[in-house]
Amino acid sequence: MTLLVHTRADLARARTALPGTVAVVPTMGALHEGHRANLRRAREAADSVIATIFVNPLQFGPGEDLDRYPRTLDADLAVCEAEGVDVVFAPVESELYPNGRTALTTVQAGPDGDILEGACRPGFFTGVLTVVAKLFHLTDPDLAYFGEKDFQQLAMIRRMVRDLDFGIEIVAVETVRDADGLAESSRNVYLSEVERAAALAIPHAVRAAQNSPDPLAAAEKILADEPSLAVDYVAVRAEDFGEAPEAGPARLLIAAKAGTTRLIDNAPVLIGDPDA
Ligand code: PAJ
Repeated sequence: MTLLVHTRADLARARTALPGTVAVVPTMGALHEGHRANLRRAREAADSVIATIFVNPLQFGPGEDLDRYPRTLDADLAVCEAEGVDVVFAPVESELYPNGRTALTTVQAGPDGDILEGACRPGFFTGVLTVVAKLFHLTDPDLAYFGEKDFQQLAMIRRMVRDLDFGIEIVAVETVRDADGLAESSRNVYLSEVERAAALAIPHAVRAAQNSPDPLAAAEKILADEPSLAVDYVAVRAEDFGEAPEAGPARLLIAAKAGTTRLIDNAPVLIGDPDA
C-alpha cells in the first residue's frame, strides 16, 4: 500500500517508520516507462522506496513550459502503487519554498553546469540541484535513482553529492525508449505526429554515432538531414562530463526542438577506431 503525503511533517513521520535501507526516486510526475524503470531498480535494491512528485518551478526559465507541464497525480499514484513504492511525497510549492522563489539560498553547479543544458537554460541546474538537495534532506535516503536520459543532470547531481558530502549513493538507470527509438519523456505528449516523425532523427543520430569512429560528425550529419529539427547542440563529453578524450569511451549528447518541444538524448560512444 502506497502512502501519499503532502507535507514535510507527514513525510518526516512516514520516513521514521520506513525499515532498512531507503531509496528515493525524484520526479516531476507524468510518470512513464522511464520513471518506472527508476522505481523498479530502487524497489529491487532497497528495503524501502520513496518517490517524490514535484514540478519544480525553480528549474523552469521564463517562457518555458511550467504552466502547461503535464500534471497527472492520480495516474502517477497508480503507477507508484503498481511498482511497490512505499511513500509518495507530493508537496505543493509553498511547502518546499515557504519563503518564495526569490532571495533563496541555492546550490550552484560548478563550471560544467554552465555548458550545454546550462547554456541553453540559464539557471536550470541551480533549480535542479537546489530542489534535489532539499529532497535529499527531507527524505534522508541511502540511495537515489536518476536516469541517464538526463545525463548532464546526473553528472551534476553526482558532483554535488561528492563536493557537498551528502553521503548518498547515486544510481544511474539506462534510458528507456519507445518502440520507435524516441527516449521516453513527459514532454513527448506535446509532439504532433509530424513533429514526432522529425524527432526520430535524434535517436537515429545517436545510433549512427554509436556505430562511427567519429561520433560527433556522424550525429551532425543525420541531424542536418532533418530540417524541421532546430538543433540546440550536439556535443561529446567524457563519461564523467569532463572534456572528451581524443580516443576511447565518451558520451554523445543532443538537444533539439521539434516545433516548440525541446528534446534531449545521449548515449555512450567510442571515439576512434577500436582496432587502431
Ligand atoms: P523528470 O523529468 O520527471 O525525471 C525524473 C527522473 O526520471 C530523472 O532522474 C530522469 O533522468 C528519469 N528519466 C526520465 N526519462 C527517462 C527515460 N526515458 N529513461 C530513464 N530514466 C528517465 O529530471 C527531473 O524530473 C527533475 O529535474 C528532478 C530530478 C525530479 C528535479 O526536479
